[in-house]
Amino acid sequence: MAAQDEPAPNGRRLHGKVAVITGGCSGIGLATVELFVAEGARVLIADIQDERGAALAERFGDRASYRHCDVTLEADIAALMQAAHDQYGALDILFNNAGSGGARETIEEMTGELWDRTHALLLRSVALGMRYAVPFMKARGGAIVNTSSISALEAGAGPIAYSAAKAGVLHLSRVAAAELSRYGIRVNAICPGFILTDIFVSSLGLTANAAAHANATLAAVSPHAQPLAVPGTPDHVAQACLYLASPASAFVTGTHIVVDGGITVGPRSSWDPNMPSPIYELLQKAAEATSVG
Ligand SMILES: NC(=O)c1ccc[n+]([C@@H]2O[C@H](COP(=O)([O-])OP(=O)(O)OC[C@H]3O[C@@H](n4cnc5c(N)ncnc54)[C@H](O)[C@@H]3O)[C@@H](O)[C@H]2O)c1
Repeated sequence: MAAQDEPAPNGRRLHGKVAVITGGCSGIGLATVELFVAEGARVLIADIQDERGAALAERFGDRASYRHCDVTLEADIAALMQAAHDQYGALDILFNNAGSGGARETIEEMTGELWDRTHALLLRSVALGMRYAVPFMKARGGAIVNTSSISALEAGAGPIAYSAAKAGVLHLSRVAAAELSRYGIRVNAICPGFILTDIFVSSLGLTANAAAHANATLAAVSPHAQPLAVPGTPDHVAQACLYLASPASAFVTGTHIVVDGGITVGPRSSWDPNMPSPIYELLQKAAEATSVG
């Protein structure tokens, strides 16, 4: 067992650990910051929302601090990992989580520039996050968790550039897990389903009123979006991240956890009694046509 994976003495699952969380000012990242702090970690929050970051640093006192880091910039990422080490003397956990919906264009409308921008945010950032964290994790092992998505698993859950980047995150996590196992560094991914966060409105350029209306509409539909009839919350994902970051998952690497309320179990008709199966309907029509004939 790597030193990183030894259980904490006081029951707090991340006691004494130092974590970097990107995209920590909102949604899944913020819920994970809150949970990690509650579990005894010291957290460096990385984001581009400096006002929110400053407020969070104040809220958490010496348990968390904030650093501006645009994860599309390699120099920012390198400086972030160095800062975690300088400030806390270690780096045990990295949650590569920052993101947005990226380019919404279809494959027919795509440009190289749009593709590159989306992949710099969602995939290259994850590779470089690991690249610059590993030197500080090597000595005593570590846990890396990368945010993928159910859009990595099936079509229709996100735009094409986003989905391809998130599929890249899954395989990147597997290959990195293999490479980094020699240092006792575990690498896993999380695939959230429909989670109520700012992501659905943040890149649409909506007015505050329109964004509030859109969020209210999303909140109303979210309990009905998947087989488990409850809204997907950032904390649902944070709990999975805690498992992958903590000694509870000491023998788990190179894989992913789907946190989606069952949305990927099968087509909607398989779990929603109000949604008839299209195949069954076709068969019934064919049977009726035959019996009439
Ligand atoms: N919400 C969902 O339904 C869902 C589903 C699957 C995957 N995800 C993924 O979860 C992750 C977190 O998203 P969320 O839903 O919490 O959204 P969110 O908008 O609430 O949070 C995303 C955070 O990332 C930050 N960010 C954006 N660009 C950045 C950059 N260049 N550098 C640093 N920080 C940046 C934002 O400022 C924000 O704080 C993303 O990777 C997203 O793709 C979300």
